[in-house]
Amino acid sequence: MSISIGIHDLSFATAEFVLPHTELAAHNGTEIGKYHIGIGQESMSIPGADEDIVTMAAAAAAPVVARHGSDRIRTVVFATESSIDQAKAAGIYVHSLLGLPSATRIVELKQACYGATAALQFAIGLVRRDPAQQVLVIASDVSKYELDSPGEATQGAAAVAMLVGADPALVRIEDPSGLFTADVMDFWRPNYRNEALVDGHESINAYLQAVEGTWKDYTEQGGRTLEEFAAFCYHQPFTKMAYKAHRHLLNYCGQDTDNDAVSAAIGRTTAYNTVIGNSYTASVYLALAALLDQADDLTGKAIGFLSYGSGSVAEFFAGTVTAGYRDNLRTDANRAAIARRTPVDLAGYRDLHERSFPTDGGDHATERHTSGPFRLAGISGHKRLYQAR
Ligand code: COA
Repeated sequence: MSISIGIHDLSFATAEFVLPHTELAAHNGTEIGKYHIGIGQESMSIPGADEDIVTMAAAAAAPVVARHGSDRIRTVVFATESSIDQAKAAGIYVHSLLGLPSATRIVELKQACYGATAALQFAIGLVRRDPAQQVLVIASDVSKYELDSPGEATQGAAAVAMLVGADPALVRIEDPSGLFTADVMDFWRPNYRNEALVDGHESINAYLQAVEGTWKDYTEQGGRTLEEFAAFCYHQPFTKMAYKAHRHLLNYCGQDTDNDAVSAAIGRTTAYNTVIGNSYTASVYLALAALLDQADDLTGKAIGFLSYGSGSVAEFFAGTVTAGYRDNLRTDANRAAIARRTPVDLAGYRDLHERSFPTDGGDHATERHTSGPFRLAGISGHKRLYQAR
């Protein structure tokens, strides 16, 4: 008999500051409709000087560890494409900040925005081997494009922490998966750059090709039919992309693409990403959080997930919402994580955007910005120094 494995708990954190798109539009003369309707974004999370992927990840994971303890967590998989070190896994800092047991394996995964889905699948494999174990999957990213570039309006920052285990309290993840890989240069970040390089329109086309490719494979592997799904969580580099992707899938399957059908499948998944911005690896799981947190009862319903990472790798898979899931949501905390952000003006945002640590190996303290539970206190001898409050 196959055991039920999936997402047992899900928590997220985002950054200290928020920049409304009205500020950006006033600065660059863009008609606000392009942001609010054209790409479907209203504001973006901006990390303070003392925040990064580690502080957000620890803030996301701490409530999970507080609720479930760490006795069964023997693996932490940290997915990111805004890594802070070429060798050391960011998850080790999180392990330290959260006081996890030394008998833990930790690794960092990278494949653009797809990495967290690889982490989830690897976690399921580990739990299948030993159902007594749980895996902490973390997706944490700061999305950064050059100032005054087309990608600037799609920036954002967030971390999602998911506890993966047997008999999950939220979503059971199903077999099979539909897989797709293509060697394309739609988005990349060479090691010497802080900001990503992107061919935005090429990346939209590459994403849509991946939607087709994953669905074709998913169907060939014996997956569900389109009609069986109550909603679809797409990777949302900007929320309009989910609508484009779903229309493309419906077209590919020869189905009607009327607005009501598309909105019914997507509308409930965009609430968090539209105000947080692109959180790369975390985005598809923020879509899940938004879906589960809204009012309709989804018990027993199938959800489709489309995870896309430029470059590119994509995966389509299904999950079923488990009975009693509402007792295990973090809706109030999720909404509070968004509401607690402090608005930053354009000058403040541009100043934060252009900051980077000196590379001289000296002692450099960071300005105190975050009101969150963890902060990056500074850098000394090329070592990042983290603190819990
Ligand atoms: N009111 C309403 N909609 C408007 C508008 C207005 N005043 N002005 C423009 N728009 C619409 C456009 O019609 C377009 O919609 P469509 O794509 O449905 O046709 C949308 O706003 C974006 O306009 P566009 O001219 O294509 O914007 P852009 O050239 O600045 O680039 C991206 C948009 C998304 C390509 C750019 O932000 C980017 O490079 N993002 C980063 C990469 C990315 O997110 N890739 C996604 C796949 S991973």
